[in-house]
Amino acid sequence: TSNQMWGGRFAAGPDAIMEAINASIDFDKRLAAQDIAGSRAHAAMLAATGIVSDSDAEAMREGLLTVLSEIESGAFPFSKALEDIHMNVEARLKEVIGEPAGRLHTGRSRNDQVATDFKLWVRDQLDAADAALVALMKACLAQAEAGADWVMPGFTHLQVAQPVTWGHHMMAYVEMFGRDLSRVRDARARMNECPLGAAALAGTSFPIDREMTAKELGFDRPAANSLDAVSDRDFALEFLSVASICAMHLSRMAEELVIWSSAQFRFVTLSDRFSTGSSIMPQKKNPDAAELIRAKIGRIFGANVALTLVMKGLPLAYSKDMQEDKEQVFDAADNLMLALAAMDGMVRDMTANQGALEAAAGAGFSTATDLADWLVRVLGLPFRDAHHVTGALVAKAEAKGCDLPELSLEEMQSVHGDIDKTVYDVLGVHNSVASRTSYGGTAPEQVRLQVNRWKEILG
Ligand code: ARG
Repeated sequence: TSNQMWGGRFAAGPDAIMEAINASIDFDKRLAAQDIAGSRAHAAMLAATGIVSDSDAEAMREGLLTVLSEIESGAFPFSKALEDIHMNVEARLKEVIGEPAGRLHTGRSRNDQVATDFKLWVRDQLDAADAALVALMKACLAQAEAGADWVMPGFTHLQVAQPVTWGHHMMAYVEMFGRDLSRVRDARARMNECPLGAAALAGTSFPIDREMTAKELGFDRPAANSLDAVSDRDFALEFLSVASICAMHLSRMAEELVIWSSAQFRFVTLSDRFSTGSSIMPQKKNPDAAELIRAKIGRIFGANVALTLVMKGLPLAYSKDMQEDKEQVFDAADNLMLALAAMDGMVRDMTANQGALEAAAGAGFSTATDLADWLVRVLGLPFRDAHHVTGALVAKAEAKGCDLPELSLEEMQSVHGDIDKTVYDVLGVHNSVASRTSYGGTAPEQVRLQVNRWKEILG
């Protein structure tokens, strides 16, 4: 038998393979709540504009709530023959309220319907990402505040570079997640135009009120071009781009946690709650959550690439290719939320080991730059000469197997005769970080300034 929603011109029903490739209900049932919200707004508008009677619209709006509760209770009989969530809901509405259900689709198409539903869903994800990012930033802020003046090695090339503070390192992630947050908010503001009422592609001859449905669904305004409204998926791509960049940040932080929790570093101890053991090695405590967060960028960025390629060659307006948008976005969103929540939990729970951080801070001649700066400031050497003298002192310490502060004054003076004992003041790691007071620098006072600024922003 032919399709009950569109089968008028068909004599035969679809081949099983046709149904298998065409049906999206297995995944787009996740749009049920959005679909019903969109239909309820549409029904109210149809009555307000006199296109359907008040009693019919009331029956539709009530019936849709019944269908929603059936879906929420898990009792709803989803049908593959009805292809997608839109037709499953409408067909069930017909069973529940009878004839008025057939009037719901007046002045509307599945094309504007699905674009609206999906936008509402993505918008909810942006709001969830917003809240999750704020929570994670607060966790980083708490770490930064507790260790605003703890010293640790700062790295370039993963080689010890200069001492920094733990607080400064944590605040670097607050800046990154803060930009992710602003990207989330930008994307939300840009996408918040309502496709509903664009109909199949050209608009409709019914006297619909698109301002009304847009407002009802929390959009800022109706989308201004019907062709664009039904074929735009860049809101989904923008979500995936924002998610990809955020996942990249999460992955970098995860990588650091993996390194820092190793026996060689011991910079942090992860909580039992966010670690796993080994089935053979009894001593093991593995940072699996961090590793999985590090891996999530793969599928999230993969979704971004996949949907970009789906869209790149499509002529206007709607093509069924677009149905492939949902699984990519669902999977990326689920995994982004999981990664954000796991990172939040890990950061909240983890202990930074002040002693290990401080012990590592001075290794690797990390105050060599401070020494070169001292030669410039106190002895008046040109920086290039100071760099060379310091290099010779580093070589001396390396040969002796000690750190810079352990060279004797005589050993220092054998490289440059004017060096005096005040040089030792700048060789300590605490003095080093305290001296870096330039705006945005690692000095504890600068770190506290940024901690307070972000606390005010996040409330
Ligand atoms: N399930 C479809 C989708 O996800 C809904 C839109 C169908 N429109 C159509 N003209 N066949 O894109």
